[in-house]
Amino acid sequence: MSITYFDTIDSTNLYLKENYEKYNNLDCVLARHQTNGRGRMGRVWIDQDDLLMSILVKEEVQEKEKLSLLICSTIFKVLSKYLNNLKIKWPNDILQNGKKICGILLEGKTIGDKTIVVIGFGINVNSTKFDDDLIIKATSLKKELNKEFDIKVLANEIYEEFLSDFSLFTKKDESYLKVCRDNSCLIGEVVSVEDNGIIKDAKVLDILDNGNILLLIDGKKIEKRSGEISLHNNY
Ligand code: BTN
Repeated sequence: MSITYFDTIDSTNLYLKENYEKYNNLDCVLARHQTNGRGRMGRVWIDQDDLLMSILVKEEVQEKEKLSLLICSTIFKVLSKYLNNLKIKWPNDILQNGKKICGILLEGKTIGDKTIVVIGFGINVNSTKFDDDLIIKATSLKKELNKEFDIKVLANEIYEEFLSDFSLFTKKDESYLKVCRDNSCLIGEVVSVEDNGIIKDAKVLDILDNGNILLLIDGKKIEKRSGEISLHNNY
């Protein structure tokens, strides 16, 4: 297991999806800058001086979609050494004081009868200037703590923690789910959910053992998978 470092790359996720044959299970790619950084829902991910990393999962794992909660828990634990108001926004964001500090993009690729997964994440580390539309929504370690961070050191910390968490994950240890529940910014909150084309209020009740979210919509308990819904709220 190793970290490969690139100065500039199109996207660490795209690169690992295209070059998976050259890498082993759980190898990782870290870039200083991306020219085609990708976010969820076709958005772009713009970086300044941040942590841009992808981990390749080549081995066959059960419940792949739960890897998003696993990496949330890993990153939450590491960032908690530096920040004390972090929350996890199911299923793939980490917020500090309600502002996004980390986004996660899981991508799968099917090769024959196997599916590989690339776990990509961007952590705002030394960025201090955000576009107007992001200024109230995003933050960075430097903005919060007023000091520069060594990105490679942080990346190593996260990678080590992930390798240990992943090993527990494959042994069916589900303590990462508890980390996601205990530090969720959504449980107990009311969010807007699109339900059959209609935007409705939904109270978030829980994150279930299968990684799904349990919502109360129109008095009924409804379970949703991450891919099925988009949550609208103030975070
Ligand atoms: C999101 O919140 O929309 C997810 C952002 C994920 C960004 C990371 S940066 C490293 C990896 N490579 C990419 O192109 N995207 C992910």
